[in-house]
Amino acid sequence: MSKKIVFLNDEFLAYDKAFIHIEDRGFQLADGVYEVILYQNNKLVDFDEHIERLFRSAKEINLKINKSKIEFKEIFLKLFAENNLDSGYIYLQVTRGKHPRIQTQPKDYNPTINAIANPLKIIDQKDLENGFKAITHDDIRWKRCNIKSIALLPSTLLKEKAENENAIEAILTRDGFVTEGSFCNVFIVNDKKQLITRPADNYILEGITRNRVIDLAKKNNIEVIEKKFTKEELLKAKEVFLTSSTLKIRPISKIDDNVISNGKAGEIAQKLIELYNNYCY
Ligand code: PDD
Repeated sequence: MSKKIVFLNDEFLAYDKAFIHIEDRGFQLADGVYEVILYQNNKLVDFDEHIERLFRSAKEINLKINKSKIEFKEIFLKLFAENNLDSGYIYLQVTRGKHPRIQTQPKDYNPTINAIANPLKIIDQKDLENGFKAITHDDIRWKRCNIKSIALLPSTLLKEKAENENAIEAILTRDGFVTEGSFCNVFIVNDKKQLITRPADNYILEGITRNRVIDLAKKNNIEVIEKKFTKEELLKAKEVFLTSSTLKIRPISKIDDNVISNGKAGEIAQKLIELYNNYCY
């Protein structure tokens, strides 16, 4: 039996005792939104930005969340304390709650709110220096990727395909342009040492790590351009890296059968990893 403590609908419960109703809208219709927040050295990284994005996603699907920012913070900190974790990440999910199944959005509902604190996988320093493999794939998702929706079937199919090819992620393309990874954002460095990432449109999730990396790069005299880039530019890039709250900054040294930045983590990626680590601590 797990000793883990989780949060569900205003209660802190044992992991094995936390159940959701058979007619929860999240379960039946993926009618909900979520967040993943990094916790490093007893600190929630960019907490405000994550909670603001949660409320933005909820607004996009007309979901009212009956909890304040400060209440969320207290819940998350208590979860890490109860589970004896000084680093890890929070998985937070809010659905439209239990309701007899209707195809429209019910007017009366009580959101189901659940949160789990998890440890983060430790990454070997050597692996980080060598970089990781990614694959490319057609972006098979919907046109509202700016919403952090719990409807993730296309994303899990893509990530599964990547893992089956010994890659950590699938880098997605739509109409010839890179959108993002199945669970992360994508950056490239061109031969002028400019950092390029897609502007935050409805085809990507505007990552909190993405925004932090842009900010840190600009403050450290690395030129950043938010513009669309093609699959060809991706494969010809001097460097490629991925960002997310759980990957942090993950250098890519191979895409499909193409070697990137001589098969090692690039110089700018390494610099940004250092800057981001300092920012988190
Ligand atoms: N995913 N794009 C997509 C599609 C994502 O799912 C994520 C994060 C990101 C990066 O966002 P952020 O930097 O705010 O974590 C971009 C999380 C980690 C997940 O679903 O597990």
